[in-house]
This record gives sequence, C-alpha cells and structure tokens, in this order.
Amino acid sequence: MGSIKDQLILDKLPRHVAVIMDGNGRWAQKKGNSRIFGHQHGVTAVREITEAAAELGLGYLTLYAFSTENWRRPQREVNALMSLLVSTISSETKTLLKNNVKLNTIGCKECLPKNVLKKLEDSEKATSENTGLTLTLALSYSSRWEIVEATKKIAVDIQNGKTKTNEITDEVFNTYLTTYNLPDPELMIRTSGELRISNFLLWQIAYSELYFSEVLWPDYRKEDFYEALLDYQKRERRFGKTSQQI
Ligand code: IPE
Ligand code: IPE
Ligand code: MG
Repeated sequence: MGSIKDQLILDKLPRHVAVIMDGNGRWAQKKGNSRIFGHQHGVTAVREITEAAAELGLGYLTLYAFSTENWRRPQREVNALMSLLVSTISSETKTLLKNNVKLNTIGCKECLPKNVLKKLEDSEKATSENTGLTLTLALSYSSRWEIVEATKKIAVDIQNGKTKTNEITDEVFNTYLTTYNLPDPELMIRTSGELRISNFLLWQIAYSELYFSEVLWPDYRKEDFYEALLDYQKRERRFGKTSQQI
C-alpha cells in the first residue's frame, strides 16, 4: 500500500498549517503513566510533523505548545513542560539547522522562565538565516491576550500621533499581532478528538479550514498529517463567493 503522500497535489498544499497538539495526558493515562510521560512522547510527534512539513516544502508550521490557560495546571506539570522545552530546544536545534528550518515563537515572552526564554532566543538566532520552513511555537500564547496586546499598542500609536483611528484597517490591525510576519493558516488541525479552538489564533483562522483528528498527539505521525492535507485539498474554499464563481 502506498503512502497517502503520493495522492497529494504538491502545488495545492497550504502555505501555513497550524496545529493544536492535544491528548498527551490522556495518552499517558491510558498507559498507566503520568501526564508528564505523555508530554515527553509528544516530542516525537513534533519532530515527525516538522520533518513532514519541511519535506513537503510547506512555508509555515505553527504549533500550539503551551497556552496562557495552561499556567493553571499543577505546578509540577508546568515545571516539567518548561524543562522539556529547554531540553528539546537544546537537542533539536542541530536538526533545525540541518533541515533549513527557522524557529520563531509567539506568545508572552516575559511570562516564560528566564532560562526557557534564553534557550528560545539562542535557537531563534542560530536558525534566523534559514530559508526553509518557519516553525512557530506558540508559548504562553492565547488569542485574546494577543488581540488585547495589539489593541494597547494601537492605542499608544494613536496617542503618539503615529497613526489615526480611521487608518486602522484589517491589514493594519494584522501588523500589530504577534503573527504579523506569517500568512493566515489555510488549515488548522486539532488532535485528540476535542472539537474546540481553545483560544488559538482566533483572528488568523477567520477563513481557515478546520480538521479534527481522533489521534492523541504522541501517536500522531506523518501519515496522519498527510491525511489532513489530503482532506484539505478536497475542499472548496469559497471566501463568500458562490461555487460557480470559483
Ligand atoms: C496537550 O496535551 C499538551 C499541552 C496542552 C501542553 P494535554 O496535556 O492537554 O493532554 P490531555 O488533553 O489532557 O489529554
Ligand atoms: C490547548 O490544549 C493548548 C495546547 C495544545 C497547548 P488544552 O488541552 O490545554 O485545551 P483545553 O483547555 O482542554 O481546551
Ligand atoms: Mg488537552
């Protein structure tokens, strides 16, 4: 049996795919292990999907790794996630360089522990000249946080006379978001069977295609990703027009 990859139309791939990586805790609990064990195994899936995206030549992959709301989890789990981040970035930067992947982060940087931020910034710097896939990690990110921050910056610019109220358009607003340098995702995937967005990229997914997979994140592999891309390619994106106009 061939790979689903062979059925993909390479010039009709999305430029940007965003993923809500969910189900680590349930995966571990099913195996009688701690939730942290699930997060550790989630790293394998991150590696796989990043590699798949780079191989296919996608421009942008954005992964929801830690939400603003995730700070509410037990301290032990939060600490484990933060140290996992540090160790993963340390060990994976080589692979990012080898695969021409540029690392980018979005979210509240000041909210992260200093050592985490330092690792992220080092890796972003080391990969900044890469011209392949842009891998964006959303960390301490939530869409409402981002939109409120953007609004505050706009208010300051108006106060300082840098811009005027009637000059704020959809495009201008976009430049104040943390994703100012990314195109909107054409496709958003959520794993683990949950059917919600959980405060991720609300502005940016205005016209994204949504795809939900039952697979728990630590089990998510390239074939699952290809399946989502294939499903995306079968859809008609109308942007308000009629089918006849497309
Ligand atoms: C996703 O898996 C990873 C993070 C949110 C950090 P979860 O930890 O949410 O796993 P479930 O949803 O409890 O199974
Ligand atoms: C969303 O997953 C955040 C990430 C994947 C990082 P959660 O598992 O935290 O989402 P909810 O709270 O169940 O909606
Ligand atoms: Mg979850």
